[in-house]
This record gives sequence, structure tokens and C-alpha cells, in this order.
Amino acid sequence: MAQFHDLEVTAIRHTIRDAVEVTLRPKGGDFTFVPGQYLTFRRDFDGDELRRSYSICSGGDDGVLQVGIKRVDGGAFSSFANTDLRVGDVLQAMAPQGRFRAKEATGPRHLLAFAGGSGITPILSILRTVLAREPDTRFTLVYANRAAATIMFREELEDLKNRHMGRFNVIHILETEQDIPLFEGRVDGAKCAALFRTWIDIDSVDQALICGPEPMMLAIRAALLDHGMDKDRITYELFGSGQPGRAKQRAAARAGGATGAELTITLEGTSRTIQMEPGQTILEAGLANDLAVPYACTAGVCSTCMCRVTAGEVEMARNHALEDYEVEKGYVLSCQSTPLTGAVSVVYEDH
Ligand code: FES
Repeated sequence: MAQFHDLEVTAIRHTIRDAVEVTLRPKGGDFTFVPGQYLTFRRDFDGDELRRSYSICSGGDDGVLQVGIKRVDGGAFSSFANTDLRVGDVLQAMAPQGRFRAKEATGPRHLLAFAGGSGITPILSILRTVLAREPDTRFTLVYANRAAATIMFREELEDLKNRHMGRFNVIHILETEQDIPLFEGRVDGAKCAALFRTWIDIDSVDQALICGPEPMMLAIRAALLDHGMDKDRITYELFGSGQPGRAKQRAAARAGGATGAELTITLEGTSRTIQMEPGQTILEAGLANDLAVPYACTAGVCSTCMCRVTAGEVEMARNHALEDYEVEKGYVLSCQSTPLTGAVSVVYEDH
């Protein structure tokens, strides 16, 4: 559980000024991945352990493990990866995780993907895999960026388009610099409606995949639902929400009314009962008691911290990772969960 493995950096390539594609050779662990999954890295920065998740961008049949890392303003890990990381360095990461993926193919199909900025990385992995494995499947990609210079993997997308003429179509939406008004601006509800009227036949789409910032994801999801696509055919992944300290701030805000609960955590078959501080999340309480509870984003996005409540009740502040049926079965995101009852028991299971 939450085990980190060494991976050697074998290549680093700048795809644009502020983004790198890092090729990794695992030195242990099982790094077989499903296209759409991500790796969670850990590294010490001035004595503080930082965990950051980056999606795999290589295809399932490419025979390499690559992640795309775009520099985020003030982001310690992404800045390090873009400026100081060298070939031969060793990084530590957990085995691939995440449930953002294309459904199993049952025949030729039409996939529609929306990506914002570095949200292209898991979609590129899915795109490469689907085009290679499914010769009759069509793929439409709507890719939103600020400007042409910030398009990660632009050449790779052009290359895929040329190699799969007629079944891979990419629509670049830029905030500025576009001659055609339809392709300029932000991808919001109105833009989706215009695209669905003129360029994309929603009725022909079997699954829609969305990866980008929350407002964009919510607008696209609402537009797809409005245009008749059912919820089960829309898959999304958020990014950019994992701000360190946010969970703590939320917990602190709630701390006034709460009283500390008794928490029993079962991890790798061993149970331990601890006393929670008022307002603490289950994850925070586990970490404060030196338990190796798994986590990555701490923002309710990735599901790394998922556990099952076996006694008592908890409240989740935010959930962008678990499906309704999982919540019904008692699964919660421990980074987002605070107790509603005086005693709570949870179990972390391997997934
Ligand atoms: S650590 Fe990512 S959802 Fe909790």
C-alpha cells in the first residue's frame, strides 16, 4: 500500500517552453498501465515531502513509460522537472493509478475528447492506444489552449492526424490568434453548442472523455448532457485542483463545531485506533499518527486515498473521483472525509 518505487529518467524532451516529456525506466514494481492513468511522485523539498501526480502520455503499445509535466506557476515539483531534472536521475513513484479511461471496445466506435492545457496528457495516451488498436474507430479531439505556443504535443497530434487521416480529427480552440471565430475563445457551454451544431455530431459519439480544469469540465459535461448524451457515456478527470494545504484549510474552517472522534484504521490487515483532532480529515489523522495511509492530490480528485467506512458515518467535503455506486457501498475519499459520529472505522483496501 502506498509503496514507492525507483524509476530512472532515461530521456527528457521539452515539448514547449514550459513542459517536458519525461521517459522513465522502472527499477522495480509493476508499471503496467491502462491508458489514462497517472503516476504519483514524491520528493523532498527543503525537508517537506511533496506528492504530485502526472498522467502517462505514452500509448499502451509504445513500449515506453512517459509522463508529461507542464510547469505550474510556483509549483515546486513541476519547476524542478522543467529546469533541474537530468537524464540518469532517479525519481520515486507509486504504480500507475486512476480510472480515467476509454471503455472496452465492442466494435468500431466514435470517441470524443476535450482537453484543456496539460489535460492532453492522459488523452494522448488513450488516443495513441485507440488509433493503434482499433483500425475502424474514429476519434475527435477538442483541445483548448491559451495560444499556439502553449500547445503541448502539437507535433505529435499533427503526426497522428497525418497517419490516421479521416478518422482522427483535432480542433484547436485558442483564446486568441484564431482566424475563425468558432475556434477562438474558451470552451464553455456556448462554444460546445456551436461545435455540436456544425462540427461534431453528438449522436454518433459513443463516449466523451474530458480532462481539464474544473469550470471547463463542468461546462462541457453540462453541454453534453443538454445535447442528449447520457451520464454513463461521459468520463472526466480534473486537474489543477490539488493545492497543498487546501484540505487543511477546509478542515480548519470546520474545526469549530466538531469534536474529535475515535477512529479505527485498518491498513494492510492491521488495525489501530487513534483519537482524531476536531476538524481533521481521516487522512490527516492517519498521517499525524504515522500510518502509511495512501494519498496524492489531497483535493478529492485522484482517489488514491479511497477507503471503506465499516462503522460510523463520515461526510465528504468534495468528491470528483468516486462513482455513485462506490459511495453507496461505503467508499469515501479519506482526504475529504470528517466524522459525523463519535466513532468511525475505515479499511484501506488494495485496488
Ligand atoms: S488524495 Fe486524491 S482524492 Fe484524496
